[in-house]
Amino acid sequence: MDMNTTTPGSRILPAGDAALSAARDALAAGEIVAIPTETVYGLAADATNGEAVARIFAAKQRPSFNPLICHVTGIEMAESFAAFDPLSRRLAEAFWPGALTLVLPLKPGHAIHPLVTAGLDTVAVRAPKGFGAELIATLGRPLAAPSANRSGKISATTARAVADSLGEAAPLVIDGGPTPVGVESTIVKVEDGAIFLLRPGGVAAEEIEAAAGMPLRRAEANAAIQAPGMLASHYAPAARMRLNAGHVAPGEALLAFGLERIAGAETAKAVLVLSETGDLVEAAAKLFDYMGRLDATGAECIAVEQIPATGLGEAINDRLARAAAPRTIESGEDA
Ligand code: TXA
Ligand code: MG
Repeated sequence: MDMNTTTPGSRILPAGDAALSAARDALAAGEIVAIPTETVYGLAADATNGEAVARIFAAKQRPSFNPLICHVTGIEMAESFAAFDPLSRRLAEAFWPGALTLVLPLKPGHAIHPLVTAGLDTVAVRAPKGFGAELIATLGRPLAAPSANRSGKISATTARAVADSLGEAAPLVIDGGPTPVGVESTIVKVEDGAIFLLRPGGVAAEEIEAAAGMPLRRAEANAAIQAPGMLASHYAPAARMRLNAGHVAPGEALLAFGLERIAGAETAKAVLVLSETGDLVEAAAKLFDYMGRLDATGAECIAVEQIPATGLGEAINDRLARAAAPRTIESGEDA
């Protein structure tokens, strides 16, 4: 692998000491940097610097009414701007650093720029693993970061996918290799002692329920606190998507799961298997990459085999449903 790859517009540096100081310097100067996290790549800016945060929206071409996740080193940094109720604290202790985002009330006098929260009185917070964690510690400030892809496109799980999606809009990309989790974080919000699932993601609902000792409530049951970014047409490839397909139609590519193929698989334009063994963790890690690769074949439609809805299958099916949603309304959504 090239140690220092350049594509038109983006400089890709391998994660390491040189990348850490380059990224810190850029962020301290109010620039944006694409960084690896364990879920997906993030397009990061100093969360206390409004101009820097605005550059994220410009790069993603995302309207500023969609709030961003604030990334921290841990509970201590989060407490400098957000208030933890006991249940949220327990979840942070159980899952941080990791793929769980908590929506918490902002504290008075906090330093988070309002562009980050889109004017809400709550903030979405998580402590990532790996390079991102080191970078936040080195900078000493929280990083606002949405997924590092253009709005409405699938999230990037490799540095190459970031560079391809954002080009010169992401002048510096840190390459930490493929992201191990492969889907975005799970977002929850505690209200009146209940935990609402706002977005399924890298931590399975069952794990959260086990740690909390109570069932999760689904956001649909309480539309008022649904994640503001949860519009349907999300993570969209250029190809149409046909879910729970029972056969492959002429000209279609196939996104497969498990050992057995549906009828007509041998006629598919291309076939990629998310997990031969039916492992949902493996499937989640490959999902965006494989959707992108099948999309790149130019197939007009991608047929998707049925994927179980348990564990990480919930997040996978959620992303697939968004990718398959009608695109008549260009949402310009957070993606
Ligand atoms: O894994 C992830 O979560 C990745 C990595 C980079 O950390 N980030 C990510 O960010 O997916 P983004 O901006 O693409 O999605 C953030 C989601 C959006 O659906 C947004 O609406 C929701 O978080 N959100 C942010 N602040 C919120 C708040 N105060 N209340 C409810 N939802 C919020
Ligand atoms: Mg996103």
